[in-house]
Amino acid sequence: MKYRIFIIGLLSAMSSYVMAESLYLQEMNNTVLSEQQLEQAKEKLKAHKEVVVREDLAMPPFHKRGDVKASLEYSTCTPCHQLPPHTKSVRTRTFMNMHTQFISCESCHFRPKDKTLSYQWEDVRDGTRIQAKTKLFRQVTSHEEKPEERAKSIHAYYKITPFYQDETVVLRKDNQFAQESRRLWEKGTELEKIERRALIHAPLEEKGPECSACHDKKNQLLDLAELGANTYQKNKIYNNIIAQFFERYKDEDSSIRIMRLLK
Ligand code: HEC
Ligand code: HEC
Ligand code: HEC
Repeated sequence: MKYRIFIIGLLSAMSSYVMAESLYLQEMNNTVLSEQQLEQAKEKLKAHKEVVVREDLAMPPFHKRGDVKASLEYSTCTPCHQLPPHTKSVRTRTFMNMHTQFISCESCHFRPKDKTLSYQWEDVRDGTRIQAKTKLFRQVTSHEEKPEERAKSIHAYYKITPFYQDETVVLRKDNQFAQESRRLWEKGTELEKIERRALIHAPLEEKGPECSACHDKKNQLLDLAELGANTYQKNKIYNNIIAQFFERYKDEDSSIRIMRLLK
């Protein structure tokens, strides 16, 4: 026990200069990996294969598909994960990949239960905060507004990102830990890869939140008003027919009638 506390103390002392930066990094620094976590990582590593990705799995992100891909290159997750990252769930993958246009990986996969995070728009290239505004949302504000016009003000580099105590949770790609991870992933021994994979995923959730976490007024994982959405946009997001469908039908065989989508 003493030994363990010593190690934790040592690790946090060594990394205290980055501690203020990111809650994600803090959580990793405080992680003592269990045998089970390492064993799991070993299995996962075995299962991991480089898949050649067909370009067009995701819903067309308006006119800027190239930008979406480029924007995801800034994520510390993508050196190891394919673009788009969601492949396993045939039902939801297209939607989850589409959300990576405007929501960072960490918003959905980093959700520590004992901490309250807030969500803001961030430029993924350098971590600058983007002032909340209506125009950042894809959802057009009225029927008169042309989607093409709106698309011009949309930027794949601006994503909704978690913050903790006013600091971004997301690690930047040039962060020392992230660079080290990339190096290990390319050149490390099998054991180094297993340990790194286990550490990176220890604070993460295997699955993202349910659709209703963001698309149901009752839950509000994201404070849409704080992100700049106006009442019309909020209502559209809360009354999203596809998200509602996913909440109601958990069974893989359920289908949705096209007529309902058109209403
Ligand atoms: C060093 C390489 C590496 C990095 C960096 C990395 N992952 Fe992974 N991740 C893996 C491997 C290997 C697997 C298991 C096999 C697979 O799914 O391809 C995996 C699996 C996952 C899974 C599926 C559930 C699980 O635990 O197996 C999720 C979710 C995930 N990663 C999210 C992320 C997110 C979010 C980030 C960035 C914050 C990230 N990963 C960064 C290598 C990495
Ligand atoms: C809007 C929420 C959301 C965002 C944003 C998101 N994910 Fe996921 N992710 C999920 C959900 C939900 C699942 C569970 C499977 C599913 O529904 O597709 C998942 C599953 C995964 C898996 C498991 C393997 C698979 O094929 O599904 C990996 C790996 C993963 N996410 C990586 C990422 C990475 C990397 C990013 C950022 C580029 C990211 N996710 C962004 C919600 C999200
Ligand atoms: C972490 C929060 C979050 C989760 C989880 C989430 N969404 Fe969303 N989703 C959003 C936000 C925010 C928008 C609005 C984006 C905008 O207008 O720019 C949105 C938009 C959408 C849109 C409309 C896209 C468009 O361009 O009009 C659909 C469809 C959608 N979501 C479906 C789903 C489904 C289905 C799920 C679950 C499988 C889901 N969402 C889970 C946050 C989320």
